[in-house]
Parts: sequence; C-alpha cells; structure tokens
Amino acid sequence: MDEERPRLAGVLGNPISHSKSPRMHNYWLKQNKLNGYYIPIKVELADFEQTIRTLMGAGFSGVNVTIPHKVSALEIADESSKTAQNIGAANTLTFTKENKIYADNTDAYGFLNNIKCKYPDWDPKKGMSVVLGAGGASRAVISALLSEGSKKIMVLNRTIEKAETVKKDYDNKITIESWENINEVVASSSNIINTTSLGMNGETFIPINPKAIPEKSLVSDLVYTPLETNLLKMAKDNGSRTVDGLGMLIHQGVPGFETWFGQKPLITKELREILIK
Ligand code: ATR
Repeated sequence: MDEERPRLAGVLGNPISHSKSPRMHNYWLKQNKLNGYYIPIKVELADFEQTIRTLMGAGFSGVNVTIPHKVSALEIADESSKTAQNIGAANTLTFTKENKIYADNTDAYGFLNNIKCKYPDWDPKKGMSVVLGAGGASRAVISALLSEGSKKIMVLNRTIEKAETVKKDYDNKITIESWENINEVVASSSNIINTTSLGMNGETFIPINPKAIPEKSLVSDLVYTPLETNLLKMAKDNGSRTVDGLGMLIHQGVPGFETWFGQKPLITKELREILIK
C-alpha cells in the first residue's frame, strides 16, 4: 500500500449536516499531524449498503454510522463485536485488509469513559441505576452498566412494550417500571440516565420533580443540545453530580479514530469548545 496516501473515514447518516463528528475527527487529524480526511456523507437508507461497499472499494479505512443506519450497519457486517450484537446496532465500521466489514458499537464505551474521566471514583455496582428510554441509546447504556457489574438496573419508558422487549433481550437482567412512577423510582436511585430525546432544544424535562432527585446521585443526560439540559440543571441545583452528553459523543469517537488513523486522540478542553460553537 502507498504509505503516503491519505487515510479516509467519514460519517454516514440522514440528516448529517448537524453531525459534530467531522469537526471532531478533523481536529484530531490536525492535532496529530496525520495525513487524512473525515467527511460527512448523507445517505438514504435504501442506498446504505451500496455506499458502504463503494467507500470500501475506494480505500476508506472505515466509517461512523448514525441515524437511521445503525441497525443496517450491524446487519451488513461480516463480523461484529459482542457489544454491537448485544445493543443490536453499530456506530463504527472498520474495513479490514481482507475487504471485510467489522462492526462495533462504541456508545457504551463512550458512556462509561465520559463518566469515569469526570468522576474516577464512580462505581456503577453501587446502588440502583435508572435508565429513562428504551431505544438504541438506552441499550448502549444498559450494556455499559452490565459490563461494569451493575446489579440493579431499572428501565422506564413511555411505551412500556418497548421496555419489555429490552428486558427480554437482556435476559431479564434488568427490571422495568411504569413511566408514571418516575418520581418514586428516581428517589431511590444512585444513577439517573436520560436516553430519551426529552430535554432537547431546551424543553422542560416535565416528568421529574426536582426534589425527587437524590443529592448523592449521579445524573447523566445523553442529550447535548442544550449542553445543560433542564434535567442536568435540576440535578446540579440539587447538589447532585452531573455528566453531559457532549462528553459521551467525544469519547465514543476515540476507538474509531484510533483504529482508522493509528493514533489514540486526546480529549482536550479546546475540542469541547470547538464542538460547542
Ligand atoms: P435512540 O436510538 O437515540 O435511543 P429512539 O430509538 O428513537 O432513539 O428512542 C427514543 C426514546 O425517546 C424512546 O425511548 C422514546 O420513547 P417511546 O419508546 O415511548 O417512543 C423516548 N421519547 C421520545 N419522545 C418522548 C417523550 N415526549 N416523552 C417520553 N419519552 C420520549
């Protein structure tokens, strides 16, 4: 292979213009003085597989995959990580030397590392974790918590049937509770994680009473627009520890970058500032 050839990667989604991944990966490329490009690619669901094969043929090292392609990404892969299989979706594809597609899901990694970087003493084995939502992001968080040995994971979702499916898929290792009981459940939890889209664009996080959030709890919101959601603000005002969604987004990008471009990237304050703009 021509060593001088730039390495190529990108992110596939629809829509894609809002994605912060190109800014992040291109920052890391520059910071590490690497010869490479990372580009956003808008793709319709029907064209996803063909596009992936074209990119592989064109010499791309791999791609990130976002909504609505995460499930297809796992389906078309030749091989996949256990985490991606458990979550049922992939966000990171790597094209191997043998022209095979390897699928991974780094959302669970991103979720854990983001919290551990901010609170190294955080122990998810202690107490109960409440996960709000039952979509793909919720599955990533559940996989992460289970991998850390969490024993008590309670999932609440507006549509209870979806939470029931998640429970079945995770071999009954989680429990579910009705969305209406959110305040009682939150009041006895150590970790509260919002994986729903509630709170996006500044809407009030209606279902939770601020007084229900325990002072000693850790509250994490996967929503990052705004950076400080109403849930996080409530938690902060209450004296709880908080973790925002931008950190998870940054951390989930690390494994892909390292595989495709050969350097572990640094997570700097400057990067966060660039992504907030
Ligand atoms: P993702 O892959 O990001 O998790 P998703 O699969 O579309 O996205 O899941 C979105 C989650 O947000 C779901 O749990 C959804 O609840 P439903 O299963 O009841 O749809 C939740 N959600 C979205 N809008 C909501 C709202 N207004 N109130 C409560 N939950 C909401």
